Amino acid sequence: MKKTYLLLLIFLISCSQGATEEFQSGEEVYEARCSACHGPNFEGRVGPNIDSNSPSASMPDSYWIQTITKGKGSMPAVRLSDKEVSLVIEYIKNNY
Ligand code: HEC
Repeated sequence: MKKTYLLLLIFLISCSQGATEEFQSGEEVYEARCSACHGPNFEGRVGPNIDSNSPSASMPDSYWIQTITKGKGSMPAVRLSDKEVSLVIEYIKNNY
C-alpha cells in the first residue's frame, strides 16, 4: 500500500516538473530556444528570418503559437509553457 503512494507521488512530481516555467523573460526564451535557428537579431540562419521584413511579421499571434508549439515543416515543435510562448512572441514583436 505504502509503495503505491510513493510511486504515485514520484509520478506526480515528475509531471509537475514538466509544467514548471523555465524562463522568466521572452528574451531568455528566444536566446535559449530560437536564436540558434533564427539568428540573434531575427535575421535567420537554418530557419528563415522572422524580423519585421518577413512574412511572419504580419501573421497573427495564433499563427506564431501554432508554429512554435506544433512545429512547421522542418522546424521542430518547441516545448514551452503557454506563458513562455506568449512572452517570446511579445519579445520578438517588441524588438522589430
Ligand atoms: C531547429 C531549428 C529551429 C528552432 C529551434 C526554431 N525554429 Fe522557427 N523555423 C525553423 C525552420 C527551418 C522554419 C521554416 C519551416 C518551414 O516553413 O518549412 C521555421 C519557421 C518559423 C516561423 C514561420 C516563418 C514564416 O515565414 O512563416 C516562425 C514564426 C518561427 N519559426 C518562430 C520560431 C520561434 C519563435 C522559435 C523559438 C521559440 C523557433 N522558431 C525555433 C527552424 C527553427
